[in-house]
Amino acid sequence: MNNPLHIPVVAIVGVGLIGGSLALALKAAGVTDRILGYDLDAHNLAQALQLGVIDHVCSGPQELSAADLIFLATPVLAMPAALKTIAPHLKPGAILTDGGSVKAAVISVLEPLLPAKLRYVPGHPISGTERSGATAAFATLYRGKRCILTPTERTDPQALDLVTALWQAAGSEVILMDAEKHDRILAAISHLPHMVAYALVNAVGAYDRYEENILLYSAGGFRDFTRIASSDPTMWRDIALTNREALLEMIERFEVDLAGLKEAIRTADAPALHSYFLRSKLNRDAIL
Ligand SMILES: NC(=O)c1ccc[n+]([C@@H]2O[C@H](COP(=O)([O-])OP(=O)(O)OC[C@H]3O[C@@H](n4cnc5c(N)ncnc54)[C@H](O)[C@@H]3O)[C@@H](O)[C@H]2O)c1
Repeated sequence: MNNPLHIPVVAIVGVGLIGGSLALALKAAGVTDRILGYDLDAHNLAQALQLGVIDHVCSGPQELSAADLIFLATPVLAMPAALKTIAPHLKPGAILTDGGSVKAAVISVLEPLLPAKLRYVPGHPISGTERSGATAAFATLYRGKRCILTPTERTDPQALDLVTALWQAAGSEVILMDAEKHDRILAAISHLPHMVAYALVNAVGAYDRYEENILLYSAGGFRDFTRIASSDPTMWRDIALTNREALLEMIERFEVDLAGLKEAIRTADAPALHSYFLRSKLNRDAIL
């Protein structure tokens, strides 16, 4: 497929679900001639090459010198170390962008590490699954989804245009947003739900009144609700640590709501329970 956007060589640093899926999407859109893969996990890289997610395995960071655009897609707390390792080898004028789920903390750590020769565009695709690694990647992950870019004062406008076009080629609508607003919105609509799902699975899993593991009796509802609790622990540890303030605020709001619900159950307040469930149903139905 011919695409007006042409980036001769793209490098993916961290060839997992997010990095691998962008590689496949860009290949499918005909945006690039060659995709390089760099990752600490050699087995994952071998699988990525075998599956055609990448065209070349970089045996060291020096091989990234050919890249015109580098997509950093490691867990967020691994990004500074990854950038320190690769930055000296990247070519002048190359564009660095990332897909980290938290933006303000990532920007504040990455920007001071950036050599002047690199142009950095922070970003976050709002799509994913609970699976990880190159074997989880698929070309249509970003189709019909949104990608938020959070440019800073230092972001080069041409680099921003190019990264915008890149995500559009992958099928996403691009939205520009301030990093702090991004982090607060994501704390509410993504990070809090993951914390609740993890806590729910652990609370129910620890229920020990009966000898058997009662999770084995779970059916559709529990499994739908807790799908995201199968997500990668390293990734979520890093998100919880780097978006603490916004996430704590959302957890506190959630605790207030849950306490109200508990009180209505404790006092057998049928009208309160009905109106609570109705308000929730209307809110959710409205977004579908
Ligand atoms: N999974 C999601 O739903 C989702 C959605 C949007 C954004 N994100 C963000 O995308 C990033 C990647 O997530 P993912 O789900 O693709 O994770 P993943 O576990 O599938 O892939 C991450 C890869 O990074 C590699 N890696 C770790 N440290 C490295 C380093 N220092 N140098 C090179 N490679 C390194 C790992 O070996 C792994 O292959 C994270 O920052 C995450 O917050 C994830």
